[in-house]
Amino acid sequence: MDNFIIHGGRAMSGEVRISGSKNAALPILAATMLTREKCEIKNVPDLMDIKSTFELLNYMGKKCFFGFNTFTVHESAGLKHHAPYDLVRKMRASMLVAGPLLARFKNVRFSLPGGCSIGVRPIDIHLEAFKKLGAAVSYERGDVILTTAGLKPARLKFRFPSVGATENLMMCAALLKGTTVLENCAREPEIEDLARALIQMGALVEGAGTSVIRISGAAALKGLKYTVMPDRIETGTFMLAAAAAGGTLKLLNTDAALMTPVTGALKKAGVGVISEKGGITVSSSGGRPRPVSITTRPHPGFPTDLQAPWVAFMSRAEGVCEVHEAIFENRFMHAAELMRMGADITVTDRKAVIRGVDRLLGAPVMASDIRAGAALLVAAAAARGKSIIRRIYHIDRGYEKIENKLRLAGVRIERVKG
Ligand code: EPZ
Repeated sequence: MDNFIIHGGRAMSGEVRISGSKNAALPILAATMLTREKCEIKNVPDLMDIKSTFELLNYMGKKCFFGFNTFTVHESAGLKHHAPYDLVRKMRASMLVAGPLLARFKNVRFSLPGGCSIGVRPIDIHLEAFKKLGAAVSYERGDVILTTAGLKPARLKFRFPSVGATENLMMCAALLKGTTVLENCAREPEIEDLARALIQMGALVEGAGTSVIRISGAAALKGLKYTVMPDRIETGTFMLAAAAAGGTLKLLNTDAALMTPVTGALKKAGVGVISEKGGITVSSSGGRPRPVSITTRPHPGFPTDLQAPWVAFMSRAEGVCEVHEAIFENRFMHAAELMRMGADITVTDRKAVIRGVDRLLGAPVMASDIRAGAALLVAAAAARGKSIIRRIYHIDRGYEKIENKLRLAGVRIERVKG
């Protein structure tokens, strides 16, 4: 297993090109299951979760090619309708093929995704919504089986604006003749990206980015040529790394409009953020930031996927602040690791109280999920001395060539075999 070794405490500088969004690419790749025609998707980040999706689509019978950030999907023979345990275990987003396959083949079987290190993550919202469209749900040997004699468009309301459930249902409804109305939808920008892709495939989708989405589907959908939006979580991770380590860093190929909640919080903390077309420049003295409390919320609130890097940044705040995690029930695993670097954090339930310290010191630490890993990178880049980050396969799931990008930005980082 690989580790990162980082010698921190150097200011960041230069330019970093932001990759395509992982969390937009995953549902769009699942949407290729809706059509027999060729799909070509550009700006797909080269990272582990995309490789897992490649394996899943190939397992199901699609022919995939992936290189130079372009993912091509063909279909020549019949498809399997089963997402097995080994693939769903690696990546929860595998269950995004459920909506497309249910709509296209009237049955689908997928392994029930278990809990994970950030929370229980049930799938009841997805299943309730599929039932409203006319699916029957049963369970066998750890798998969920969805079957239907024929789905019908409906009007339904999610009990919580789940990102995955909104995406699954949008894709399912895209193959239903008639209009499905989804209420209390997630409003994340990745939902809008999926809507744009589905529209190109021939569905009519209105309201993506608001809490009510109307989808008028078609009996067959066309192929797709699409470019994925920039990754706002990667953008935020680099913004926070530069804010914590100090220096001036320009992020290219991204969209400042996606970053409003993070930019607002960074400015309150005393960090300079200049938003231009196609780029964002962050400048920070590397001194102690003002303490800024945040609560994670569904979009347009502060994203839960940047909560851990925010905690890392606030570890050196000049004072005390609180971070509330309102989306996942167990997403503070990074706190204990940050404390190994000298941070002073008390976690109770879904709240972390951070008493800023003057300095973080490099230490051996361990990543427990993608974003906890990102938090350790932020902290290690700012810390004085050497850090070793273990279990970086978590980071590799969600960040493309992260060490190359950090190195280009002036961070002394190397990947070594553990
Ligand atoms: C997406 O996960 C993202 N993943 C997550 O990013 C992100 O943290 C999350 O949305 C919230 O923004 C992808 O897009 C692939 P949810 P998703 O359904 O769709 C509860 C990363 O690091 N819930 O909106 O799984 C759930 O337990 C990942 O890139 C139910 O109770 O998130 C959670 O508490 C991690 N029942 C909350 O809703 C359900 O049926 C939000 O989950 C579904 C969800």
